[in-house]
Amino acid sequence: MRKFVVTACISLLMTQLFPQQVNLVPMPETVVVEEGVFGLNRKTAIEISDKSLEALAGFLNDYLREQYDLQLTTKVSTKGKSGIIRFMLDKRMEGETYHLDIDPHSVIIKGGKAGLFYGLQTLLQLMPAERGEKLLLPGMSIVDKPRFGYRGAMLDVGRYFFRPDEVKRFIDLMAHYKLNILHWHLTEDAGWRIEIKKYPLLTEIGAWRRGTQSSRAEDAFDRLPHGGFYTQSQIRDIVSYAMQRNITVIPEIDMPGHTLSVLAAYPEYSCTGGPFKVLEQWGIQKDVMCAGNEQTYHFIENVLDELLELFPSEIIHIGGDEAPKDRWKACSKCQEKIRQEGLKDEHELQSYFVKRVGAYLQSKGRRMIGWDEIMEGGLAENAMVMSWRGEKGGIEAVNMHHQVVMAPNNFMYLDYYQGKPEEEPFNIGGNLPLAKVYNYEPLSEKIDPANRKYVVGVQGNLWMEFIHSYSKLEYMAFPRLLAVAEIGWSGKEKKDFADFSARISHDLNKLDRRGVNFRIPDVAVTDEKDEHGNHLLHLHCPVADGSIYYTLDGKDPLQYGTLYSSPLKINLAGMDSLKLLYIVRTKQGRVSGTRLLSLGK
Ligand code: ACM
Ligand code: ZN
Repeated sequence: MRKFVVTACISLLMTQLFPQQVNLVPMPETVVVEEGVFGLNRKTAIEISDKSLEALAGFLNDYLREQYDLQLTTKVSTKGKSGIIRFMLDKRMEGETYHLDIDPHSVIIKGGKAGLFYGLQTLLQLMPAERGEKLLLPGMSIVDKPRFGYRGAMLDVGRYFFRPDEVKRFIDLMAHYKLNILHWHLTEDAGWRIEIKKYPLLTEIGAWRRGTQSSRAEDAFDRLPHGGFYTQSQIRDIVSYAMQRNITVIPEIDMPGHTLSVLAAYPEYSCTGGPFKVLEQWGIQKDVMCAGNEQTYHFIENVLDELLELFPSEIIHIGGDEAPKDRWKACSKCQEKIRQEGLKDEHELQSYFVKRVGAYLQSKGRRMIGWDEIMEGGLAENAMVMSWRGEKGGIEAVNMHHQVVMAPNNFMYLDYYQGKPEEEPFNIGGNLPLAKVYNYEPLSEKIDPANRKYVVGVQGNLWMEFIHSYSKLEYMAFPRLLAVAEIGWSGKEKKDFADFSARISHDLNKLDRRGVNFRIPDVAVTDEKDEHGNHLLHLHCPVADGSIYYTLDGKDPLQYGTLYSSPLKINLAGMDSLKLLYIVRTKQGRVSGTRLLSLGK
């Protein structure tokens, strides 16, 4: 008997148990669906229990205006009997916990400040995709809180600069899925992006490059000068914008490696003296900061002093990754430092460097986080580790009772391919389809259960080598970031990729209306046999209200495709395998790339 490879299967049972309207991402802890619906209309009033909640009411009104051309009045009250959406500040409710109750008379959200914000996001997700006279919200009771306190996304704006309005749009999308950390990778060999008043050349020189090798395709060099930086006032604005949306911005100043942009501006902090130029191609650079020069440490401290004024985050990222030791081995100052400090080798010099920067941060009341290379040569006390070379470093750090963020490249690098490379925009490599991200479990079996509490959460990373535009950034981030959000927020017990796919299909339809350039996920296939032994192939559209066009003869589905409307009855007798080419068209008219599904062998 022939078996089809089933990529994913939408569980019909699940759809019945879990009514269509409850398409929340991430999945709340408990949802009880109740009788009746709440009709939201022009007469609905927003009640806030406290004047400090005006911003929340404002967020709700902004969304209603943009999506449904609707504006509601807001009053400070808790007295309304019907036709109200009420936000009740309850300071006894911890952190990000919230309750949301919808009945035919009212919508009531309770929580602390952060919880109320998340209750609001849940409410927004419950709203229908279509504009209508009446917005109907199904009766339900939700009790919800996150699994992890750290739910992050990293933007590498060092390699490609994204404008403040683009960063804010990304923050809005993160917040909608209850992500709460933006790790802002602000400095790279290829660009320094933060204004530092004491060192103006960092941005005058370090923020610009003449062109980029391999920005879009393997062998291309574009002669488009690239650059940009955030002024301190723009940074303050973005940090406060994020904070209003319960997102902490963790800045990263990568050191001692990935610093060619610094050395181009201030070659005196290198081992060789230069000259250098801001990097124009990708790869690990041998030129790093000189760890034997006291002036380097003064420079770093001065930069950090300005940084700390801009970022209230307790945690500060100091990079620490990919710092080759070639220059240090040949540098008299570095060798002298090794002797003076009684260090064994250059790895211990790296550890000395990292510990010294960490101690400086600690003296200012902050904590250091770094990539897992900061463990080499000895981990600084109190340092947090971001595990990226798989989970190995993270597991070791956790077992040493250090807090860890899991961002293993094989599951959390959202710059990796999400489909077959030949069907996708040119990229850095890797293979990270949506299902693989979704099925990642941050609490590895290899971690002693008693130490699992040291894993504080997860993070999806967007490295920008081949992400040169904001629309491509959205393409790479979505919908995989929704899977990261669900890992970070929801318990693992209910994990079910088919159910997740069904839920996000509705949300993607809404994101499409908002103009978000997400990658249209692959069509899932389920196979059924009829009484005559024919295969009945069900194709499941990954975006609600979208359509699938397919061919079975190798022709281009965009030109020759048949609209899928009912299961395909296939007699495979004499066939080796079946090649189905398809495109997906969303309701808004966006069309996926042509994709091949090989069924059978
Ligand atoms: C990294 O990917 N170099 C942290
Ligand atoms: Zn040196």
